[in-house]
Amino acid sequence: MVSRARRVTCSCHQFGPDGYALNGKPLEDTYEEWKASRFAAAGVQCQDCHMPDRRHLWRGIHDADMVRGGLTITLDDAPSRVPGGVAARLVVENSGVGHRFPTYVTPLVLLRAELVDAAGHALAGTRVERRIGREVTLDLEREVSDTRLAPGERAELVYARALENGAVAARFSVVVYPDAFYTAFFEALLRQGAGRGEDDVRRALGETRRSAFTVFEARVLPTGRLSPP
Ligand code: HEC
Repeated sequence: MVSRARRVTCSCHQFGPDGYALNGKPLEDTYEEWKASRFAAAGVQCQDCHMPDRRHLWRGIHDADMVRGGLTITLDDAPSRVPGGVAARLVVENSGVGHRFPTYVTPLVLLRAELVDAAGHALAGTRVERRIGREVTLDLEREVSDTRLAPGERAELVYARALENGAVAARFSVVVYPDAFYTAFFEALLRQGAGRGEDDVRRALGETRRSAFTVFEARVLPTGRLSPP
């Protein structure tokens, strides 16, 4: 379920018109999303992105370089400023993913901003997050929200805050949880009691947590200047 190497053909990634749908949308609509995008119009095929050099390796959401290559991430001025505080706007654009980002219901992408002290530690209570993903209930019965980005769409997080309790900067990051759905699923399973399979479930849960990675990180100083994370 959480293996890294996924070998699939394009037709797997489209549920048919009679297939399973949630909130009027098939559970997986990748092909239709691609067909409606500028990539299809320009003749860019699934394999062109996923199997560059025709290597038989399907690169996807677990591959940080692949994900980074599909996005344009910028940090610019916030519309408003707090005197002596920090302010900036983090923008993530789906500039190079040939369909909605992220593709499926399993990953979750977070835009995050928080205050940090001189040692780089986050200050409790200062974190603000914005989710990009298609959230469904664990039984796949209901869609909770769908904030994925179609090609060309962007999500933003504005953060403007006075410095408090030893904070020296604001840290902005974009974090990818490729297996967020499975993490929640395994956690629920353990809460209910997984019986004899418990060790396996624990191991699988650990894997889903370890697969998270950061695709962008920067610190903004009160002067408005950037400093390395
Ligand atoms: C312009 C480049 C591009 C094209 C064209 C493209 N993709 Fe993608 N695809 C990506 C990127 C980048 C990701 C990783 C981010 C994400 O999951 O959305 C991705 C992710 C995926 C994933 C998730 C894989 C995983 O690891 O879980 C699937 C499935 C997928 N694409 C299927 C397709 C199919 C099917 C087509 C053609 C109908 C297609 N893609 C066309 C760039 C592309």
